Amino acid sequence: MEIKIVSIIGGGTMGNGITHIFAMKGFYVNLVEMSEQLFNHAYTIITENLNRQVKKLIITETEKNTILKRINKVISIDNIPANSDVVIEAIYENKEAKIAIFKKINQLVKQDSIFASNTSSISITELAASCRPDRFIGMHFMNPVPIMKLVEIVRGYSTSDQTFTTVKELSQKLDKVPVEVSDYPGFISNRILIPMINEAIFALMEGLSCKEDIDTVMKLGMNHPMGPLTLADFIGLDICLAIMEVLYNGYNDSKYRPCPLLKKMVAAGKLGRKSGEGFYKY
Ligand SMILES: NC(=O)c1ccc[n+]([C@@H]2O[C@H](COP(=O)([O-])OP(=O)(O)OC[C@H]3O[C@@H](n4cnc5c(N)ncnc54)[C@H](O)[C@@H]3O)[C@@H](O)[C@H]2O)c1
Repeated sequence: MEIKIVSIIGGGTMGNGITHIFAMKGFYVNLVEMSEQLFNHAYTIITENLNRQVKKLIITETEKNTILKRINKVISIDNIPANSDVVIEAIYENKEAKIAIFKKINQLVKQDSIFASNTSSISITELAASCRPDRFIGMHFMNPVPIMKLVEIVRGYSTSDQTFTTVKELSQKLDKVPVEVSDYPGFISNRILIPMINEAIFALMEGLSCKEDIDTVMKLGMNHPMGPLTLADFIGLDICLAIMEVLYNGYNDSKYRPCPLLKKMVAAGKLGRKSGEGFYKY
């Protein structure tokens, strides 16, 4: 199946990045947002990011304008074009809200199109069951999307081989490196990354060392570009906690218990960069 028209639902952090890369690779992209204002905000961010690429001589001014022309404004999922070959959902991380969207668009979009979710932690199998299980898949892009090469392609219980192959080839056309993953809590990326961050928070809570030294060990000892506590602030402590809870509940295994210090900081509103303070002040 040849993919030409892609619809992205949600133009937030991930959705605007996903729109950017598809438009850059020549696809026509319908960016679906809830209001004109939210669409304009997403479009402005995409324009600014493209301007940065012009400055770095990655693209020309003319190419930038061509890329922007491939992005079509759609306000409300009620108006999603029926001829979308692929729909990628990138709204906030809430299972009920995502299911409501998939149920709705299942009635509006042609039957042979593929639905994908960019969820970081919700079961692909559960989302798929609400609409078209064989033509449903997880496309887990990394932040920032235009820069990060990985996309985890998450197969739900009923995802067909044809759907998988189409989405794998599509990811390669975007110059991404797809990795096939089975649908289990946290997929691969968050199952490994978030418990590591959680362990670093335990180390801090138990007084093994100060936050700067814990970060230094992982930066200089393991060659990580960022220490785990700095990274937790970047991701958002509330997101880290939510993912630990998904792992804990999903595997019923105490090794995934969220660190009490992480819970306490989230309760105190110390969420990292986005709240101005986490392990560090911003
Ligand atoms: N932020 C990350 O680092 C990251 C990384 C990988 C995956 N994810 C996943 O990607 C998804 C999106 O995360 P995000 O950080 O971009 O969220 P975000 O809050 O930045 O953006 C969500 C966007 O969805 C829009 N939206 C909500 N309901 C809508 C609707 N009914 N119709 C159209 N638009 C709607 C909102 O207006 C908002 O712009 C989540 O599932 C998240 O778990 C996030």
